[in-house]
Amino acid sequence: MSDKVIIFDTTLRDGEQVPGCQLNTIEKIQVAEALEALGVDVIEAGFPISSPGDFNSVVEISKVVSEPVICALTRAVKKDIEVAADALQYAKKKRIHTGIGTSPFHIQYKIRTTPEEIIKRAADAVKYARKFVDDVEFYAEDAGRTDNKYLARVIEAVIKAGATVVNIPDTTGYCLPEEYGAKIRYLVENVPNIDKAVISTHCHNDLGMATANTVMGIINGARQAEVTINGIGERAGNTSLEEVAMILKSHHDLKLRTDINTQLIFSTSRLVSTLMSMPVQANKAIVGRNAFAHSSGIHQDGVLKKRENYEIIDPVEVGIRESSIILTARSGRAALNHRLEQLGFTPGKEELDEIYHRFLLLADKKKEINDEDIRILMGETAQGEKAMKLELLQVTCGKSAIPVATVGLRINGEVHTSTASGNGPIDAAFTAARHLISRNVVLEEFLIQAITKGSDDIGKVHVQVEHQGKIYYGFGTNTDIITASVEAFIDAIAKIK
Ligand code: KIV
Ligand code: ZN
Repeated sequence: MSDKVIIFDTTLRDGEQVPGCQLNTIEKIQVAEALEALGVDVIEAGFPISSPGDFNSVVEISKVVSEPVICALTRAVKKDIEVAADALQYAKKKRIHTGIGTSPFHIQYKIRTTPEEIIKRAADAVKYARKFVDDVEFYAEDAGRTDNKYLARVIEAVIKAGATVVNIPDTTGYCLPEEYGAKIRYLVENVPNIDKAVISTHCHNDLGMATANTVMGIINGARQAEVTINGIGERAGNTSLEEVAMILKSHHDLKLRTDINTQLIFSTSRLVSTLMSMPVQANKAIVGRNAFAHSSGIHQDGVLKKRENYEIIDPVEVGIRESSIILTARSGRAALNHRLEQLGFTPGKEELDEIYHRFLLLADKKKEINDEDIRILMGETAQGEKAMKLELLQVTCGKSAIPVATVGLRINGEVHTSTASGNGPIDAAFTAARHLISRNVVLEEFLIQAITKGSDDIGKVHVQVEHQGKIYYGFGTNTDIITASVEAFIDAIAKIK
């Protein structure tokens, strides 16, 4: 049996069935070209009879894609097959994918016929499709819930009728991995003409087992995997291409391979996500925002010592530049120092201790510390000990309350406090601060900015004060905008000679 697993991508057919994810023809061409560059073997471009848009997309994709086989879906219905053949007229390599339900549910309640009639219709559809193309794939819809003995009879009949690929979908995502693997093994061992066709997996993720089922199918003899980028698809989605490709690439023991250029996985994932307006969940394997992000101190230290301590895949292999160390309150000195070095700072041990202390104070208030925050922390540290420092700030304000602020300033080593009211919390705090200093200052300018994004981010305040005809500038940063304002005010006053 070959070691190559054929990658059949159905992002543009099963994936595109997701509500709200529909693409226009130009967008579908963009995805198809990306899939070709990625190295997929088969692109299921659409279901031509379903709409003129789908028909047109199959036509246009057939014109621009040359390497992968272009596949079009049909029901086991003559008209569907004729329309699919027509849509595929420009494809250099073409396949018709036809099929019918084979489970008791589908036979009894959906198609309302008999098992024998299903076998006849399945074989007839394949025979008819072979009149138009040499490559015909047959799907036994809901094969996951189809009795193996009966399924083997269906598969034998369609191969006899000319099917080159036999698709065994777990349409409802019900199978357990072992059960799905055993189903494929059963077909390998019990369908007499199975050597004349390739067995394909097509798994849905309703119970979160799509990838596990696909891998078990492959281990047991399937040599084609039907997948989608980011695992998108009906309901909980399909098996994700990136997971299968990276499982086969990482597990050398399986001695299986795909032709996927894995370094294009991340960009393809982002393209599909953007075009379909379908965000990738942060913890999605391989392509999620957190797939290579480390946030706990122990993991960060381990990754910085040797990446493989906590990563089984080098992010570069999937097109991500590097692992990311997310700085949070759980990060240690090693991670902070690593980021400082990346930003061009080389603190000594004592300075690092000081920065780390300030870092933790900030990290307790913010979910994540970004580079901008670090630069600010470094700027603050570089200023060294100040002659005047804000030690205490307590503010009462709100609707129908008179704003009152108590400010405690350390001036030349001694803490002085004062309380004042104002027309708002900042005005009250500035007035209280003014009571503590022996200088007459006029606030000339006051500017508040959010540095980055999100309500938990740092606020940056610039003030300009006038004293005896001279202008002094002050700067403050804090997640608490009132504290940042008072710090900026004090910073300016402290500069008055
Ligand atoms: O899930 C399924 O059974 C399908 C078939 C149409 C192949 O998508
Ligand atoms: Zn499906």
